[in-house]
Amino acid sequence: MEYAQTIFNDLAKRYDFFCQIASFFLDRFWRKRINSLIEPGEIILDLGTGTGELAFGINKAEKIIGIDFSWEMLKNAQLKNSKPANQHNEVEFIAADAQRIPFPVESFNSVVSGFVFRHLQKNINMILKEIYRVIKPEGKIIILEFSRPEFAFWRKIYYLYLDVIIPLIGRILFGKEKVKYFRYLQETIINFFSVGELKMILSNNGFRKVGYYPLMGGVVGIYYGFK
Ligand SMILES: C[S@@+](CC[C@H](N)C(=O)[O-])C[C@H]1O[C@@H](n2cnc3c(N)ncnc32)[C@H](O)[C@@H]1O
Repeated sequence: MEYAQTIFNDLAKRYDFFCQIASFFLDRFWRKRINSLIEPGEIILDLGTGTGELAFGINKAEKIIGIDFSWEMLKNAQLKNSKPANQHNEVEFIAADAQRIPFPVESFNSVVSGFVFRHLQKNINMILKEIYRVIKPEGKIIILEFSRPEFAFWRKIYYLYLDVIIPLIGRILFGKEKVKYFRYLQETIINFFSVGELKMILSNNGFRKVGYYPLMGGVVGIYYGFK
């Protein structure tokens, strides 16, 4: 089992609550920004859907399929799927690894992904090839991911927050023995590709008109590119 799979199986129960507290309730707002890049009636793949928060935040697609390799996260997504508040679109969840997307070529108008790419860094080219394969011509990839603010003072505050506050929230919500997971999550943010690197990697994997815009002074960012 991959380490990310262990982490998210272990954190699934309180994952949504953790995201809300750790982001000062901004996480839903960030995910909803993806909506503005979606056209009505799209068929969408949500890669690394987790508890489905990103999928449920999209409100104009025809259908969204969420895949994830953590069955505990998916269990929560499935529970939320029956709630009336989450029924803007038809949403379906499937257990699958991003390295082998179980759909034929050109199945989706968009592939979206929220806070997952940090965990895909090792096999990024292979996974982007898989994503490219399942996107329809003219379709797009949209990635929401943590970033590193350019402004040095803001970056220092952010790193301090990651170093001190995030492990503390993790410890309170999940217990002392899970603090290591939050250290790992912190490292994945600090060691993730720079904005320029990820844009270049997307271009090298065939995506056109690649772009990025920062949210909250670069704490989070949205990358996109077209097939
Ligand atoms: C931080 S959570 C994000 C969940 C959701 N997208 C959101 O916005 O809240 C990362 C998710 O990616 C999943 N994940 C990481 N690597 C994956 C892979 N190779 N294949 C499928 N899912 C993966 C994890 O299981 C986890 O549920």
